Amino acid sequence: VASLCMSSSTFAAQIVGHRGASFDAPENTLSSFKLGYKQNADADELDIHLTKDGKVVVMHDYDMARTGGEKLKVSEHTLEELRALDIGKWGKWQGKGFSEKIPLLEEVLALIPDGKRLFIEIKCGPEVLPELANVLKKAGKKPEQTVIIGFGYETMQAAKEKFPNLEVNWLVQADKKKVFPPVEDLIAKSKAAKLDGLDLNQGFPIDKQFVDKVHAAGLKLYTWTVDDPIVAKAEAEAGVDGITTNRPGWMREQLAAK
Ligand code: G3P
Ligand code: CA
Repeated sequence: VASLCMSSSTFAAQIVGHRGASFDAPENTLSSFKLGYKQNADADELDIHLTKDGKVVVMHDYDMARTGGEKLKVSEHTLEELRALDIGKWGKWQGKGFSEKIPLLEEVLALIPDGKRLFIEIKCGPEVLPELANVLKKAGKKPEQTVIIGFGYETMQAAKEKFPNLEVNWLVQADKKKVFPPVEDLIAKSKAAKLDGLDLNQGFPIDKQFVDKVHAAGLKLYTWTVDDPIVAKAEAEAGVDGITTNRPGWMREQLAAK
């Protein structure tokens, strides 16, 4: 996998917009992704599912209840049915002038500026891989511009087999008590599946020693979701490859500040 060195922050760590610039626009919408790139994020991150009629769509939850107001399960409805709901008017977004439809992955791929990337999190299972391959092929982006991530180990293994030229990283979450598998085990499993890296949450003790261990195994290390600039700075100084944040523009300013 070709490595990119596109970050314009003081640190080498890439800034990844979590569900786009989701602090400033409704998550996982075209507005949020456009804003993420406008805020100079190195990448946006999003979540995908397969609809009943076989389209790859962008949505975090398995149903539309939280962001669309109706409990329609994404996998049990067609794109047209899902698009009847506005996902730009929930919670703090009410009265803010957003009007959003569930995006197709291909619409977001078309927005990626030259030199920027998109992290695609597979929320469903490997059943999405054939259509994902079609969508990626049609979009014609450079291989280094799309990264596949996901919690499902077997799904990531299958994704790497399907897309050997793409970066594929395994998401792992420590629980609330910060209980997590030993990093050595995560490294061994990632290598066994020929994955490219790990993408870990804030329950892990991410310091330089930790990062060095992952890098020494030839793996990349990303973290999520980091909205505290003190934590982001510490992780960037420890050498992580990327930090996933809801506030990409603001976080870059914080990291650049002395
Ligand atoms: O970037 C990884 C992160 O998005 C995983 O958690 O729940 O926000 O999809 P979640
Ligand atoms: Ca995600």
